[in-house]
Amino acid sequence: MSTIDSVLTETRVFQPSAEFVKQANVPGMAAYQALCDEAERDFEGFWARLARETLQWSKPFTRTLDESNAPFYKWFDDGELNVSYNCLDVNLANGNADKVAIIFESDDGAVTKVTYRELHARVGRFANGIKALGYKKGDRSIIYMPMSIEAVVAMQACARLGITHSVVFGGFSAKSLQERIVDVGATLVITADEQVRGGKTIPLKPAVEEAFAMGGCEAVKNVVVYRRTGGKVAWTEGRDLWMHDVEKGQSDQCEPVQVEAEHPLFVLYTSGSTGKPKGVQHSSAGYLLWAALTMKWTFDLKPSDVYWCTADVGWVTGHTYIAYGPLAVGATQIVFEGVPTYPNAGRFWETIQKHRCSIFYTAPTAIRSLIKAAEASPDHHPKKYDLSSLRVIGSVGEPINPEAWMWYYNNVGGERCPVVDTWWQTETGGHMITPLPGATGLKPGSCTLPLPGIMAAIVDETGEDVELGKGGFLVVKRPWPAMIRTIWGDPERFKKSYYPEELGGTCYLAGDGANRDTDGYFWIMGRIDDVLNVSGHRLGTMEVESALVAHPMVAEAAVVGRPDDLTGEAVVAFVVLKRARPDDAEAAEIAKELRNWVAKEIGPIAKPKEIRFGDNLPKTRSGKIMRRLLRVVAQGESVTQDVSTLENPAILEQLGKAL
Ligand code: WTA
Repeated sequence: MSTIDSVLTETRVFQPSAEFVKQANVPGMAAYQALCDEAERDFEGFWARLARETLQWSKPFTRTLDESNAPFYKWFDDGELNVSYNCLDVNLANGNADKVAIIFESDDGAVTKVTYRELHARVGRFANGIKALGYKKGDRSIIYMPMSIEAVVAMQACARLGITHSVVFGGFSAKSLQERIVDVGATLVITADEQVRGGKTIPLKPAVEEAFAMGGCEAVKNVVVYRRTGGKVAWTEGRDLWMHDVEKGQSDQCEPVQVEAEHPLFVLYTSGSTGKPKGVQHSSAGYLLWAALTMKWTFDLKPSDVYWCTADVGWVTGHTYIAYGPLAVGATQIVFEGVPTYPNAGRFWETIQKHRCSIFYTAPTAIRSLIKAAEASPDHHPKKYDLSSLRVIGSVGEPINPEAWMWYYNNVGGERCPVVDTWWQTETGGHMITPLPGATGLKPGSCTLPLPGIMAAIVDETGEDVELGKGGFLVVKRPWPAMIRTIWGDPERFKKSYYPEELGGTCYLAGDGANRDTDGYFWIMGRIDDVLNVSGHRLGTMEVESALVAHPMVAEAAVVGRPDDLTGEAVVAFVVLKRARPDDAEAAEIAKELRNWVAKEIGPIAKPKEIRFGDNLPKTRSGKIMRRLLRVVAQGESVTQDVSTLENPAILEQLGKAL
């Protein structure tokens, strides 16, 4: 709680300069307020107007919002369009054909640029290629690719044909990949031979082979492979095809398949508090509308900007703010293959300087690690680079602490660029609570105010609004076009997770705790459920626990988060082995094995930072594990809470000792 108190006492407010306001897409608070008022006054009219102005419809919609089957809301549902048409063809028609769409900066610094015309042609050829293989609207594909132009081509080609894609982050293990292939019912997998990050190659196609060997993937007819490195890979004739062979001989022109507004553009898996990751299903029209609008509102995007989002396409940020949003507004964007610290900690700053980047969007965990690196190696401090091209800088993925915010503002933004701290989620599709750079006064550590049309609020457990200054659950009281539509194959879980009866059944529960100050600014306090946020990546404690107990040596496991200076939160696991509790030397060995095991089961990001072994776990008499106490123990603090309901209070002392 102490960190929350400290951010709430932060009083500095940074107003946008008059110069910025004058040129802004949303110029000043009055303009922001006018949009909010419009949404309040005529909610459906507001969204209908924006949807007509922003997107090109092959069949115009006549119904804006259908709430008859809430919380399964439908938006613009009798309209039709094609997402890829709106991202590519529209730009060919409106004078952007020869504008650079993507500046690809590879791991080793080589640069490839593609214009909108070229990107349109590549997507057309690839879409024609997979169409020729028999894939069509309604099919599902898995995309397991590195950061590349080809990943964007793959996503856009699927969108062009109405194939619902599910991108799996390249850092996820074969096991995670297999689970997603099975759950989404994929018939097509698009991958690469290997990926390159930080000077190292990491296999991708071999993980696909491994996933197939686990079984359940028999529905997959083809594996299309982008040749990134030329590394040797196993090959199944008839099933496996090179991406360049699929494109070969195909026409640049591929007629876009017009889909209903609600057609699922993609399913993206994310962690929840219980069970397996859930497949968050997004729509076509509502999603794209918000991707395009927030590009203009939050980033103040203009035709002359060079925009860079450092996220991976495997996360929602890489979907909305790389694969779709920037293209939908005709932006020039940088797509980066590498890591922030290779070949040195100045890589981000050098890349901004090299391409005259003007809008930069990254995560607090990257900022924090670069603060440390800049201190350790002053040559790679952002001040050593020419960052004068920047005009807006953004943050996403977790709360940004005021200290990191100030460093970012001063050293990267040159005390000139507004910092847009964007709060949103895989489920929300796009930004929800964020400053508008030409309007909102900024308070370091606060994501400030909801976007127009987003009815965010803070309520107590009965759904009543709490007073300003009091913490509670962050909710959204009205639906919005880019919202999650359902959990793939599990509508009941969708309802239970996001629209609980306790809150009336029509109020979206985000799963975050938040506070509002007397100016109405939102301060996010972190998850209220068993979801951890490690380096901006969501992880369910249950997921890590299931991975641990799947190891033959493990009888029981409980996983909690611990605040961490660098990664935000760190995973701490308490483990009971089937055999006797190991001594220190043995414990270190077993801990290492278990950490690697988790990396194999889920992915390296899920590796526990620390594992502690006990004879048992702290449980109530009814057998419930007391995670609340374990969180205290994990932080190295002594338990002062009442432990009288514990079956075995002595266990706390044993678990309190770190290795
Ligand atoms: C957290 C990432 C504070 C939050 C786009 C949310 C944030 C979860 C912020 C969603 C922010 C994201 N300030 N917390 N600006 N942005 N979060 O689904 O806990 O990977 O619920 O989406 O990240 O993570 P997800």
